[in-house]
Amino acid sequence: MYNNDMNDQQIKDLINQEKNRQRQGLELIPSENYVSKQVLEAIGSILTNKYSEGYPGKRYYGGQVYIDQIEQIAIDRAKELFQADHANVQAHSGASANEAVYHAWLKPGDNVLAMDLSHGGHLTHGAPVTRSAQLYNFIRYKMKNVETGEIDYEQINQLAEQYRPKMIIVGYSSYPREIDYQKIAEIGQGYQALLMADMAHIAGLIAGGMAKNPFDYGFHVITCTSHKTLRGPRGGLILSKGIVSNPLHKPTKTIENIPTLIDRAVFPGTQGGPHDNIIAAKAIALFEALQPEFKDYIKQVLKNAQTLAQELQNRDFKLITNGTDNHLMLIDVFKSFKLNGLLVETTLDKINLTVNKNVIPDDSLPPFTPSGIRLGTPAITTRGLKETNMIQIANWMKEAIINHQNNAKLAQIKQEVIDFSLQFPLPSD
Ligand SMILES: Cc1ncc(COP(=O)(O)O)c(C=O)c1O
Repeated sequence: MYNNDMNDQQIKDLINQEKNRQRQGLELIPSENYVSKQVLEAIGSILTNKYSEGYPGKRYYGGQVYIDQIEQIAIDRAKELFQADHANVQAHSGASANEAVYHAWLKPGDNVLAMDLSHGGHLTHGAPVTRSAQLYNFIRYKMKNVETGEIDYEQINQLAEQYRPKMIIVGYSSYPREIDYQKIAEIGQGYQALLMADMAHIAGLIAGGMAKNPFDYGFHVITCTSHKTLRGPRGGLILSKGIVSNPLHKPTKTIENIPTLIDRAVFPGTQGGPHDNIIAAKAIALFEALQPEFKDYIKQVLKNAQTLAQELQNRDFKLITNGTDNHLMLIDVFKSFKLNGLLVETTLDKINLTVNKNVIPDDSLPPFTPSGIRLGTPAITTRGLKETNMIQIANWMKEAIINHQNNAKLAQIKQEVIDFSLQFPLPSD
């Protein structure tokens, strides 16, 4: 038995302080968001008590009558939302989802084409510090023109001819433009490469109908996180096209069999038991994303991003690719203000605006003090902010940056941000 009077005041206090921090500031990190009350309740539910290795109807543990239904509902909703033949909802995170797809399809030493890290690619797309980079041979492509954001499709073509990749990855962490999936698909099909789109950032935009769906262009796999623009719990999803069969039976390694290869690669390939509380929360977030209101939300995310980008440009912020087509923007603050990204991140922290420092393409500064910051509008849009509020945010950012050594001025702006933010409660309040 537990003594329910036992109280870990230390952690409770810290959670409350974090809640106040979230209430009293504006979250501009583009990979963050606020979950709904019902998503939060599912995360904190008794489902966390259960073990359920395997898949619905094919488990290694008893007592699955409700868990099976929950996971099946999550799978069905994910399939409907992204027009997939199959969904694996067990991946613990975006990184685990990517790892599982690599494990499903690649052999050690296989060649993979992926975007250069400084041009927007994610660490899990073969950064040398990762385990995948030790196993597989990642070859880098880049943008052709950093002023427009155009990807160098000719370079991808040449690299494909030279390396005959087993997989081509698109989908990025700090890339503000739309991708030409058709061009990539045409290149990959010539080499029977598995086409994978890591839609961690823009899954919500696809779900809301405001970004292209890679499946419409012949992509085989979409991985994503459930906690960014999709507004769900922290976790991953893997969507795929192909033949779905019993994951207990080993299929031959063909692109058609990728759904089953992925299920086997998630469990038992790279993970143990699924997190059933998180799967229930994913199911709820997917339900919310299927509602018409979600389309309105995503449209507003994009309107806010367009306005914020323009207002920042009007105030001398140099945006990489000179704007954005999606929810995020990458700003060269070194070029704009001769300050590095760490200093700008710290300055904005002082006025309760949260952004993250970020490398810019071929950055001349080191990763811990890079030239850029990255910000976006998903979280502030959930909070209820509209275009006019973007003007205010751009003003605060510029004022704080030019007064970064003036603590009295920063304290004054911080109070304005707190007063403003408290007018927009968190969805869970
Ligand atoms: C493109 C992309 N892929 C994968 C991930 C990893 O997701 P997670 O942090 O859930 O492991 C991220 C996270 O920022 C991402 O931006």
